[in-house]
Amino acid sequence: MEPTAPAATPRVAIVTGASSGIGAATAAALAAAGFDVRAGARRVDRLAELAGRTGCRFAPLDVTEPASVAAFVATLPATVHLLVNNAGGALGLEPVAEANDDFWRRMYETNVLGTMRLTRALLPRLLASGDGHVVNVGSIAGFETYPGGGGYTAAKHAERALTRTLRLELLGQPVRITEIAPGLVETEFSLVRFAGDAERAAGVYRGLEPLTAADVADCILWAATRPSHVNIDEIVVRPRDQASAVAVHRRPR
Ligand SMILES: NC(=O)c1ccc[n+]([C@@H]2O[C@H](COP(=O)([O-])OP(=O)(O)OC[C@H]3O[C@@H](n4cnc5c(N)ncnc54)[C@H](OP(=O)(O)O)[C@@H]3O)[C@@H](O)[C@H]2O)c1
Repeated sequence: MEPTAPAATPRVAIVTGASSGIGAATAAALAAAGFDVRAGARRVDRLAELAGRTGCRFAPLDVTEPASVAAFVATLPATVHLLVNNAGGALGLEPVAEANDDFWRRMYETNVLGTMRLTRALLPRLLASGDGHVVNVGSIAGFETYPGGGGYTAAKHAERALTRTLRLELLGQPVRITEIAPGLVETEFSLVRFAGDAERAAGVYRGLEPLTAADVADCILWAATRPSHVNIDEIVVRPRDQASAVAVHRRPR
């Protein structure tokens, strides 16, 4: 009998903020495509459900806590191929004149410092793979501003600056750097932004057809599965019903 070739070792993908929305959909899409997915978030019950559904592995992760990041990283293999920095979100919609310090600090901690912490911790393992890839989930809020969005747009602009800086600093190393910048996606994003006010959150998407988390996961999967020499710098993806952060088309009910 002819010897069979050993099965290729799956590429290891880390997804932060995988307990809901874009992160959960991305973990599922990557697992279905054959990646060995390691998911992290604070709500481990949600991660357990995701693992049952997709076969991914998981560990608790709070990207704002250095000790939690270290404990999460300790669960990962020595070689990592893909890091999806997705954990993040917005808090509040107050104008700058009424800005809430705590909200601004937490948005910066999660979207910016969280992305920095995971990237810094995993870069050696990404480089060790000989073919690493960092995908940061930014937002159109990294390109645009809107009234009430000062804290979130400042954080996403900063995350975008971090992404672009990394691409310059790592030039010549075996690692790709991608930003995925979605517009309106219907997830738990608005529920979190409005502190659990479901009615207010639903209003964000009323009368229009938003992107789904799976639409964004599809962009991430596509960027992550191009040949190694192809770096997708950024993908800006919006619903057809949205032209900018402030221009959306809503159908009358
Ligand atoms: N929805 C949109 O319209 C939209 C548009 C553009 C960009 N984005 C970006 O897409 C990313 C995902 O958001 P989403 O829309 O999927 O919202 P979501 O459903 O609220 O998911 C956010 C995820 O981030 C995790 N997370 C939050 N704080 C965390 C922390 N301190 N440590 C670890 N994980 C944390 C949450 O998990 P736990 O709470 O369990 O920790 C959750 O899994 C965010 O970066 C967001 O800014 C969203």
